[in-house]
Amino acid sequence: MNILGFICFGEHDSAACLVRDGEIIAATEEERYTRIKYDSSFPVHSIEFCLRKGGLKISDIDLVCYSWLKSDYQLHKKLIHMLKYFPQSLKLLKYRDAVSRKNDAENVFRDTFGYAGRFQHMNHHLCHAANVFYLSPFEQGSILSLDGMGDWASCWMGTGEKNQITPSKEVFWPHSLGNYYSALTQYLGFKMHSDEYKVMGLSAYGKDAYKKEFEDVLKIRPGGGYKLNLSYFNFHVGGKQKFSDKFADTFGAPATPGEKLSDRHADIACSAQKRLEEVVLNTADHLYENGGSENLMITGGVGLNCVANGRLLREGKFKNIFVGPSCHDSGTAVGAALLGYFSSGNKARGKIDASGYWGESFDDQRVETALNAKGLKPTRVDDIARTCAELLKDGKIIAWFQGRSEFGPRALGNRSFLANPTIKEMKEIINVKIKKREEFRPFAPSILREHMEAYFGEDYASPYMTLVFNIKDEKREELPAVVHVDGTCRVQSVSKEDNARYYELIEHFYKLTGTPVILNTSFNIQEPIVNTPEEAVACFLKTDVDYLAIHDYLVARNK
Ligand SMILES: [Fe+2]
Repeated sequence: MNILGFICFGEHDSAACLVRDGEIIAATEEERYTRIKYDSSFPVHSIEFCLRKGGLKISDIDLVCYSWLKSDYQLHKKLIHMLKYFPQSLKLLKYRDAVSRKNDAENVFRDTFGYAGRFQHMNHHLCHAANVFYLSPFEQGSILSLDGMGDWASCWMGTGEKNQITPSKEVFWPHSLGNYYSALTQYLGFKMHSDEYKVMGLSAYGKDAYKKEFEDVLKIRPGGGYKLNLSYFNFHVGGKQKFSDKFADTFGAPATPGEKLSDRHADIACSAQKRLEEVVLNTADHLYENGGSENLMITGGVGLNCVANGRLLREGKFKNIFVGPSCHDSGTAVGAALLGYFSSGNKARGKIDASGYWGESFDDQRVETALNAKGLKPTRVDDIARTCAELLKDGKIIAWFQGRSEFGPRALGNRSFLANPTIKEMKEIINVKIKKREEFRPFAPSILREHMEAYFGEDYASPYMTLVFNIKDEKREELPAVVHVDGTCRVQSVSKEDNARYYELIEHFYKLTGTPVILNTSFNIQEPIVNTPEEAVACFLKTDVDYLAIHDYLVARNK
């Protein structure tokens, strides 16, 4: 049974996924093809890739699942909202094009591909939930989906057991943690729906100086929910500026884009982040008390807040936490396809490839052609992992391109810039000279899985960089380039099963240096992560990166 899932026409993250008989065959995001970050257009390239990878024609597809319901869902709630905030709410009518495009997704799909088979609109949060539950190692557990808004809910709670997902409770928009964080992102002069992680990075530099104020902005509700004090916001009435004048009166003038941020801005980011963590912790604790499981699965865009996830793991009541590789909206394409499979008949869950390496791969011929086209003279090496480990030991920076591309915002060792994390200056060199991004932003370490306990005091897998850990005091000096200012690391643990070649590289580095860790950041500069060998070559040529390692080929700069 071939099922295609897709998402588009939201505010970001178009994607498609092919599931065959319960297995993920292919999944990718449209931005990788159009080269427009977070592209939300109809994912024609992603769907074509899925068909190509599966060796299918469109007539071979049994079911297509789209991860939004039609707009008449929760219609009464929408009408009440419009009336409650009338006449300011009239500004929300500008979104009706987006709404009608979602309603029309089926026609767009059928017209584009000449498809005549079954098509299903699916609940957005249920797709988020399916994306995390079916990829998780858990037979059963509680699910928490948090985002801006999906089918009028911003928070969805439920349980997964065997092959079934059951909803239990929702928090409805406009009370939204995603919109809360996006408004703050805009207030701090960053780009909404893309730069939220910058706020998270900045928060580590601040003090919790606005604790009381943010307790008034975001309130905890008895019973595990939360409520925004909407007088601080404008997003719920369609305002272009998502925070209100009251917000600016309380916290001071907003930052303009590109402005050098002050201690005040860092303190605001810190207090807002901490308040978000408190609310997530409280919500999860209630879920624990009512769910009867030790396992928690986190999904939805807010699930990208790895600082909150790490805190949940350390301070929350759940013993085990799983956040998959694709908790953002693109992941609902994967969830929709899986949900389409498991929701009909009583199908047993097999072992699903949860690696996130679901994208494009290329043969050596294509790589050689891409290198030759730019006049590059590669050396084919016998052991690329060992050779690169030696270069990393010597302080060289490597653009590393191997295997299938990752799904989601994190490079997990197939499309990465790699460097030596023991060199203090490395963070500044990569941030400023190569990635051309803000100095305060941290880099992530990739560590051999078996060394997690030795460095972070917790024998816990974190294969997707979705959890933040505190580094042990005695290890902090060893890894200056990947430890954030507050002593935390957004860790990727790597096992042989996750990624054999990447594991081998880190293992060689460990043998050479005694450090089982390398610095890993995504292979891109102010653009989506590179997808093809041609993009890898083009990106390499416009950087000061020392080497390009692509399959078994090694290219040195200026050679
Ligand atoms: Fe979502």
